Amino acid sequence: MKFGGTSVATLPRWQNIRELVASRRAEGARVLIVVSALTGVTDALKQLCIEGEQGKREAAAGAIAQRHHDLLDHMQLTLPDTLGQRLEHLARLAVDGAAAHGALAWQAQVQAHGELMSSALGAAFLSHSGLPTQWLDARECLAAVALPNQNERTRLLSAMVEAKPDPALTARLAALGDVLITQGFIARDAQGRTVLLGRGGSDTSAAYFGALLKAARVETWTDVAGMFTANPRQVPGARLLQRLDYEEAQEIASTGAKVLHPRCLSPLREPRVPLLIKDTNHPELEGTVIGPEVRAHAPSVKAISARKGITLVSMESVGMWQQVGFLADVFAHFKTHGLSVDLIGSAETNVTVSLDPTENLLDSDAIAALASDLAKVCRVKVIAPCAAITLVGRGMRSLLHTLSGVLAEFGQLRVHMISQSSNNLNLTFVVDEEVVDALLPHLHDLLIGAGALRTDDSALFGPSWQTLYGGGEVIPAVPAWWRETQRPRLLELAAETTPRHVYHLPTVRQQARTLKTLAAVDRFHYAVKANTHPAILRALAEEGFAFECVSPGELVAVGSIVPQVASPLFTPNFAPREDYARALATGATVTLDALHPLQHWGALFRGHEIALRVDLGRGLGHHDKVRTGGSGSKFGLPLDQLSAFLQLASEHGVTVRGLHAHLGSGVLDAGHWGEVYAQLASLAERIPSVVFINIGGGLGVPAHPGEAPLDIAALDQALSAVKALYPQYQLWIEPGRYLVADAGVLLARVTQQKDKGGFRYLGVDTGMNSLIRPALYDAWHKIVNLTRLGEPATALYQVVGPICESGDVLGSDRRLPEAREGDVILIAQTGAYGKVMSSHYNLRDEADEIVIE
Ligand code: LLP
Repeated sequence: MKFGGTSVATLPRWQNIRELVASRRAEGARVLIVVSALTGVTDALKQLCIEGEQGKREAAAGAIAQRHHDLLDHMQLTLPDTLGQRLEHLARLAVDGAAAHGALAWQAQVQAHGELMSSALGAAFLSHSGLPTQWLDARECLAAVALPNQNERTRLLSAMVEAKPDPALTARLAALGDVLITQGFIARDAQGRTVLLGRGGSDTSAAYFGALLKAARVETWTDVAGMFTANPRQVPGARLLQRLDYEEAQEIASTGAKVLHPRCLSPLREPRVPLLIKDTNHPELEGTVIGPEVRAHAPSVKAISARKGITLVSMESVGMWQQVGFLADVFAHFKTHGLSVDLIGSAETNVTVSLDPTENLLDSDAIAALASDLAKVCRVKVIAPCAAITLVGRGMRSLLHTLSGVLAEFGQLRVHMISQSSNNLNLTFVVDEEVVDALLPHLHDLLIGAGALRTDDSALFGPSWQTLYGGGEVIPAVPAWWRETQRPRLLELAAETTPRHVYHLPTVRQQARTLKTLAAVDRFHYAVKANTHPAILRALAEEGFAFECVSPGELVAVGSIVPQVASPLFTPNFAPREDYARALATGATVTLDALHPLQHWGALFRGHEIALRVDLGRGLGHHDKVRTGGSGSKFGLPLDQLSAFLQLASEHGVTVRGLHAHLGSGVLDAGHWGEVYAQLASLAERIPSVVFINIGGGLGVPAHPGEAPLDIAALDQALSAVKALYPQYQLWIEPGRYLVADAGVLLARVTQQKDKGGFRYLGVDTGMNSLIRPALYDAWHKIVNLTRLGEPATALYQVVGPICESGDVLGSDRRLPEAREGDVILIAQTGAYGKVMSSHYNLRDEADEIVIE
């Protein structure tokens, strides 16, 4: 069990250690405790090492000794001999100074005292509190090896130990007692000198001991519950990684996660000793288990990490192309200066490498010296400060298709270098350091949104940092009614017939009421294209919604189902002339988004009031195919045609009453509509006849686990702020999805199962004919086995339908209970764009629809 600096700095922390160790003893385990120095002590010792004057060094040693005396007092203990000797020795070293020992060897000895003292203090405390604990000098057990690529500095201050299971040592320690305490960070070299293990040294020591003793497990106790999908300080929604294999964990540790030093995994890999990361303050949390266990799980990005302080060295030389030995010569200089190279990119005339500060004792002198040596063989450019952003996951290359959104983000930045690790575990982008903080949370969201980070796999991904430490998870906007109250009813409905769409009207009403809290909005419309079920149209009419239609069919449906409601909006795109004629005849408010209708059918519109849909030059949404703005989309009048449009309107006696924009669907960023509103309102000031602004729909619902719901209060604030600037315009909206998505589920039945090519297919009695969103947009819909809800999810399924298309997959890599033929499968969030987009393909019957209260 390894405890870091903060865990050993106070009496309550030591009492906690005592409890934890006692609990392991109660399980029958023998415990070796590895400790760091008290927090701040290593830094104080380093400071001591750079003091030139003896007096100052002595004062520093005195202050460090006092910290330990104070803690002893608090523990009500007298000074134990072991600690007394350490304090004396430290005082002597302070008097001597570096000269008597050789600078580096003296530094190592001084700094080793942090751990020597804390462990001596711990042994006294634990023994005194009824847990007999033997103090063990780690240097008697850990032998540093001199490696050919080390210089004197790394040999003394960043040493390595080859730790192989050692039965003799195991027996020797067993004879000493059941609880031992020793130091992290220190070892002894072949000449008998005290050496340090470098940064993260205590973790590394724990791992060395774990391997030497072939321990049942290594537990590192720290102040977080484990490794997360991103640094939680940058990304509060980062999820706990519950299980990792050694390689993935090592990769995450090497690419930025501070919780574990990357070095400490390799010693454990061969003897297959598992490592547990545990939170000292929350021992009840499971933490992260890193081990040899290979579980069947969906390929997934596991983490996104960022390392700052990266220095790039770019070496340019026309002479290098096909020159045998050029790289060898260049790299020899890095070796001479003790600098380890991390990433490498090469071209015909350029090699660029990165230096990672965690592996290098980087100082500007070392880099300047390197640069001047390199300048003899090539042109050198040092680029700093950079940051390396790394995606980690086993089988990275098989995940590339899920990364388009992330790549698009990098497309807008200066990317100095891209590197894909040869072990297929990571993909790294080196960018300017200053962009990282803002970028990381966004990329994390994109990875979840794209299904690249499979946070739906609960065997791998635990709660978010926010849930564990930040006062609770964001409450989902809509409770899963089908899980909580309606399950028995749904099972009855499925027993009557499947496939079947079921709509829960209370959820529709609840969503409508939530939207109606938007005080800035003057008129609410429901975009009926999302779901045209009559009961839903009626329910929304009762909630005070008007309607938005895009075809004569929708106009007829609205006209006959909710005739009492004020005339609808008609917002088609590339519709034929007669559609407009019919819409105008019904009194609908027609929106145009092209010159053609006025140029060629001007007479049709004469005397009418219309709205104009413009393209604001950008689009957004959950998938490329639902982004309806920007030069690549067919929607909206480009702004450079605005004058021509207004000219045509005036020629034909057409009054432009409203301005409209809809940039896309499935947007969760509350700020978006405020921007659209402000842009449209400022445009409207150029068109005196305008009285309303329609900011479209597109309001998203969280579609992936971990996504936060749209913040309606923030949306209201953003809209109200714009409204205050442009009070002369009415504000209209026309959402579809937000009102109905969560209100609908699709029920299907298990037909057959098949094992093939390492995959397990679970067949259900409908597929892309009833729900095309997964095939069309890679959309993610939660899938559960309603019959076996709550049973352990032990199988990993590809959930497929009966359609003769290989794209007929409703959900891939879903962890579900072992299923049987006839089980009822529920596909969630199908209330929007489910039934309305279904087809008779393969001449299969469409799923029926039923509404429940
Ligand atoms: N207004 C206009 C002009 C629209 O084109 C749309 C949707 C909406 C409002 C309503 O958008 P909503 O609030 O539902 O996001 N089939 C895709 C969505 C396509 C949306 C098309 N236009 C999907 O299943 O995600």
